This record gives sequence, C-alpha cells and structure tokens, in this order.
Amino acid sequence: MSKRPVQTSKVDPETTGHEWDGIQEFNNPLPRWWLWTFYLTIIWGVLYTIAYPAWPLVSSATQGLLGQDTRADVAVEIQRYEDANAPIEAKLVAADLTAIATDPELVNYTQNAGGAVFRTWCAQCHGSGAAGAVGYPNLLDNDWLWGGTIEDIHTTISHGIRNTTDPDAHYSEMPKFGADELLEPEQIDQVAQYVLQISGQEHDAALAAEGATVFADNCTACHAEDGTGDRSQGAPNLTDAIWLYGGDQTAITDSVTNARFGVMPAWTGRLSEADIRAVAAWVHSRGGGE
Ligand code: HEC
Ligand code: HEC
Repeated sequence: MSKRPVQTSKVDPETTGHEWDGIQEFNNPLPRWWLWTFYLTIIWGVLYTIAYPAWPLVSSATQGLLGQDTRADVAVEIQRYEDANAPIEAKLVAADLTAIATDPELVNYTQNAGGAVFRTWCAQCHGSGAAGAVGYPNLLDNDWLWGGTIEDIHTTISHGIRNTTDPDAHYSEMPKFGADELLEPEQIDQVAQYVLQISGQEHDAALAAEGATVFADNCTACHAEDGTGDRSQGAPNLTDAIWLYGGDQTAITDSVTNARFGVMPAWTGRLSEADIRAVAAWVHSRGGGE
C-alpha cells in the first residue's frame, strides 16, 4: 500500500504580520468576483443618487434626474378617486336629507364613505365603533342629546357643540350648583338621591323625597318635570340607564357640583358637505334611525 505523501514544501503566502496565539493571518488577495461586485455596488449607488431623490438638503432633498415624486403620485391617486366619486357626491349634496336612506345608491355610498369619514375624524372621541366613552356619547343607541333625525344629526355635525368657532353651534350650560354655591351640600346629596330614584337605582327614600323639591326648583327647566331631558338644550334624560358622565352617586354628585361642558368641534369648513352628509347618514343608520 502506498501512502500519499504529505505536502510540506508548499510555500506559505505572505502574512499580514498579524498573529494571535501563534495563528497567523494570510494576506490572500480578495476573490475577483467579490471585488467587482463591490465596485459595481458603488457605481450603482452613485448613479442611484443622481437618478432618484437622495441627498438631504436643508428643507428638502435633491430631486433626482428621473423626477420621481411619491407625494405627487399620491396626489394623482387622490384626484383619480375624487373624479370618480364626483357624480355620486354631487347627487348626495343635492338630495333631500331624508331621501338618502331610501336611495340604494346613496345608501351604498354613505355606508362606505361615511364609515371612512367616521374612522378618520370622529373615532378619536366617539370610539372606533361609535360606542362612545365617558363624556363622549354613544352614537349607536337611540338616545340622543340633541336629536336623532337625520336633519338633527346633520346640524350637530355641521356646527358642533359648545365650541367657540361656530356661532351656530349647539349651546347650553348647566349651572355649577356646588362650585358656585347655588345649592347647599346637603341639597346636592338630596337631589343626587332623587336622580338615583328616577333612574331606577338604589337610593335613600327620605333624602330622595327632599331631593324631589330641589329638583323641581332647580333642574326641571332643562331636564323637564319628569327628568326625561330636553333636546333643544342638550339636557340628558336622567331617567334611563344611559349616562354620559356616569350614573352612580359619585358621578351624579360631581355632575351637579361642577356641571359638565361637553365640546364638539364644528365640521363645516373642515369637511366637505358631501362628507358631512355621508357621515350623518352613517351615524343615522346606526343610531336607530329616528
Ligand atoms: C373632540 C372630540 C369630538 C370629535 C372629534 C367628534 N365629536 Fe361628536 N361629540 C363630542 C362630544 C363631547 C359630544 C357631546 C357634547 C354634549 O355633551 O352635548 C358629541 C356629540 C355628538 C353628536 C350628538 C349626539 C347626541 O346624542 O345628540 C353627534 C351626532 C356627533 N357627536 C357626531 C360626530 C361625528 C360624526 C364626528 C366626526 C365628524 C364627531 N362627532 C367628532 C365630541 C367629539
Ligand atoms: C341650564 C340647564 C340645566 C339645568 C338647570 C340643569 N342641568 Fe343638568 N345638565 C344640563 C346639560 C346641558 C347637561 C349635559 C352637559 C354635557 O353634555 O356636557 C346636563 C347634565 C347633567 C347630568 C349628567 C348626566 C349624564 O348623563 O351623565 C346630571 C346628573 C344632571 N345634569 C343633573 C342635574 C340636576 C340634578 C340639576 C338640578 C340641580 C340640573 N342637572 C340642572 C343642563 C342643565
């Protein structure tokens, strides 16, 4: 059997002179293919920065010779959709508000466009599903502060509530009965017990009986004799289980002591009339459709 000779005579390549624990680093040349790929990426990079927007300047960036501009692309896309929607939007704006719900084409459009407007502009306050939160009314139920017909909803959205920007905004102001010392603390306790009573909750009957008088003297102008509220003033119904700020004793006492002042912005001027109508129809179709 012949044994293969072990090659020992091959000349070792040059080393870099680096050595770690007796291990030396050879100074082999880089593979050609690797080197050329490397040079090509550099050339590609330079050409790219010439052709496309690349180098940041103080307030913009170099434009690039190909004139590519994603912002302009988006503007073109938006314009394309606006052109496509223009006829149906014109029809929506011209329609009688009450007729929207009976026109299948407008129903279809307002369900989609109105939902999109809602998710963009209204969900921050009213919740993504329109179910509301403390201080922000649920728009899905059939309980309305300012009215639930399509016209009422359209007015509320167009002008808003208690804002300082739209002179036609809904406005009303509940007095701060405690903070402004219009009622004694015990009268506030009494009227709070009365509100618990008329909303069908556990209450102290003796205090509530006193509270009935306090209510008749101070609250009925807005919340009505029977406590069911007044939509012309946005005064909530206090006899149901639906609360804007909370229906337990603490929340009611706080409402009476410090009052509340819910503000909603006006949307006229910020949204197009077509968008306002679309979202009004969307809300109307969800809220029981008075
Ligand atoms: C900055 C928060 C905010 C935004 C944004 C907002 N709302 Fe409101 N909205 C409110 C508040 C607060 C109220 C209740 C005000 C009150 O106490 O009377 C309200 C009330 C309403 C009401 C009246 C409900 C009723 O019971 O009568 C409607 C309808 C409504 N909003 C629709 C919308 C729509 C549609 C949008 C989007 C275009 C929107 N809101 C955006 C805060 C907001
Ligand atoms: C000038 C009209 C006015 C008077 C008077 C008034 N309220 Fe109100 N009240 C309102 C309005 C408007 C709201 C809703 C405020 C808001 O949406 O921010 C409200 C809200 C409330 C709430 C909160 C309801 C909820 O759903 O969370 C309670 C409780 C309440 N009032 C009780 C009373 C009691 C008790 C009195 C009498 C001591 C009284 N109010 C007198 C107008 C009035």
